[in-house]
Amino acid sequence: MEIALLGGTGDIGEGLALRWARDTDHTVVVGSRDPDKAARRADDYGTLLSERGVDHDVDGLGNEAATENADVVVLSVPPEYAVSTVETVSDGLADTVLVSPAASMDRDAAGFHATPPEDGSVAQAVAAAAPEGVPVVGAFQNLAAGALSDLDAEIETDTVVTGDDPDATALVRSLAEEIHGLRALDGGPLAVTALVESVTPLLINLAMNNESMHDLGVRFQ
Ligand SMILES: NC(=O)c1ccc[n+]([C@@H]2O[C@H](COP(=O)([O-])OP(=O)(O)OC[C@H]3O[C@@H](n4cnc5c(N)ncnc54)[C@H](OP(=O)(O)O)[C@@H]3O)[C@@H](O)[C@H]2O)c1
Repeated sequence: MEIALLGGTGDIGEGLALRWARDTDHTVVVGSRDPDKAARRADDYGTLLSERGVDHDVDGLGNEAATENADVVVLSVPPEYAVSTVETVSDGLADTVLVSPAASMDRDAAGFHATPPEDGSVAQAVAAAAPEGVPVVGAFQNLAAGALSDLDAEIETDTVVTGDDPDATALVRSLAEEIHGLRALDGGPLAVTALVESVTPLLINLAMNNESMHDLGVRFQ
């Protein structure tokens, strides 16, 4: 399986790339608007993994090239650029599953608030922009990038997976669960993804307002 992380040079991209590269045999492709930056970041991730004695398969390419051979494409870019990023890679998206980890939010004096787009959620906006027939799945919105990137950190958290295509959501749940300590829950269809996306600003507010609560995740029990 080949997983492309568009904007995989950033925070959540780094965390997911390192975990998938360490915990699975899948090929991980770090995407960027700048192919040289992608290659540098892929080298950085590879060095980190090699220092730990981990065999890995991590490559770095421009976003369009990263999409070409991918089975799964994770849109690891800021929410406001998710739709434009889909548009730049749409020619290569046939036969892929598109994953939206985005949570759109704003900050004021009270803290962070969810700011879903008109479509209801970022995932639904991505689905509206995706070529016909490309399944879109919401996942990973409530994970803390810092916890994923710290390979010494034990993860014991859930990710809620939403989508309308049963095969695509099952595939993403299974890829999520290959990350050690991560449990993937079926959250229902894409239409309810706003619920999941809105948990992320809550987690950040909790981290800001409570001592020793950085890099929070959710465990449903
Ligand atoms: N950070 C977290 O803890 C976390 C957790 C769960 C979910 N998420 C979600 O994951 C997504 C990425 O978050 P992040 O914190 O990783 O973001 P980030 O580090 O700020 O950015 C990720 C990458 O997006 C690319 N990017 C920046 N501006 C862009 C633009 N105008 N068009 C296209 N690509 C652009 C950049 O890659 P290049 O310059 O290399 O192209 C950047 O490295 C967001 O939707 C966020 O809601 C984040």
